[in-house]
Amino acid sequence: MRIAVIGGDGTGPEVVAEGLKVLRAVAEKVGFAYESTDFDASGKRYLSAGGDPARATIPVIHNEEIEQLRGYDAIYLGAVGHPKIAPGILEKGLLLRLRFDLDQYVNLRPVKLYPGVATPLKDKGPADIDFVVVRENTEGLYTGMGGVQYKGTPQEVATQIMCNTRFGVERAIRYAFELCRRRNDKKRLTLVAKTNVLTFAHDLWWRAFNEVGGEYGDVERDYNHVDACCMWFLKNPEHYDTLVVCNMFGDIITDLGAMIQGGMGVAAGGNINPAGVSMFEPIGGSAPKYTGKNVINPIAAIAAMAMLLRETGQNTGAAELLDAGERVERAIQAVTPGMKSQSAGKMGFTTAEVGDLVAGAVASAE
Ligand code: IPM
Ligand code: MN
Repeated sequence: MRIAVIGGDGTGPEVVAEGLKVLRAVAEKVGFAYESTDFDASGKRYLSAGGDPARATIPVIHNEEIEQLRGYDAIYLGAVGHPKIAPGILEKGLLLRLRFDLDQYVNLRPVKLYPGVATPLKDKGPADIDFVVVRENTEGLYTGMGGVQYKGTPQEVATQIMCNTRFGVERAIRYAFELCRRRNDKKRLTLVAKTNVLTFAHDLWWRAFNEVGGEYGDVERDYNHVDACCMWFLKNPEHYDTLVVCNMFGDIITDLGAMIQGGMGVAAGGNINPAGVSMFEPIGGSAPKYTGKNVINPIAAIAAMAMLLRETGQNTGAAELLDAGERVERAIQAVTPGMKSQSAGKMGFTTAEVGDLVAGAVASAE
């Protein structure tokens, strides 16, 4: 397996190092070969190459690098964001660029409460919080369509178009039905949208959901308006199994999901192109104030590595990668109960120690 590693900025490289430590342990345990290559597409490099911190003047990642990335089995990403660089430059120049150029049309975000991890939800445990969000990842409000006119005047007009194509919506929905069918016996797929207000855009989602759903008679079709969904995440998370949602709403509800599963220290996601190269990342940011202090929680990055192994195994039919992913997942669950907290600086261990513990659990497992 060949992995491209983009550590990125802030604490990204630190947590990625722990994920790679666990990869080394599981590759040895299961017995497969891999190769990892570092790509320095960071805000740091952008600045040292003369990029303007206030507006995008040079590329954050070069075309040739994107072409090289296409040749890998998976991409492992640390964090995007630099305190000296204006919002949007790195996000658009790196993260969104990769999602769009590599056509990673699903953003897969499991919301799973690991054993021993504290959730802010009273009386809810690991059996109640275990679902997965399929966020459409290449359309909606993220395409950059729209514009501004009369900027800076009282007459300023600004539009940001929510672009939905039948093709894009349908492929995300189809992916979600397939995932839901194989995930477990619950087989409930919830469409999260706002059909009562977005009567064009989300009517398209609603029709596509029901038409595609006709092919999946074994999967229960469920629907939530997005605002109600936020309420149910807190009140009855056990209701959920698989959810499918547009890009913007998915961005929002998965941060809420991350909090109920124990916070940004544990939440991982995958940007999936089922027919191409996918990219896996801890979903938290670059955490500048914790950078270089060896206090950030690497569990999210290690969970992203588990996803990377499982998804790559699934896609290529490589049973040993699938097994490796399961092993990393189990090792995480063996370690979290011994951690004091999942917050940076409060874990009772350093970043590197948590990585050692998970790698150790992988090595000593049956
Ligand atoms: C995420 C992030 C990104 C998004 C930002 C950094 C552009 O919040 O991965 O959820 O909005 O998708
Ligand atoms: Mn987000």
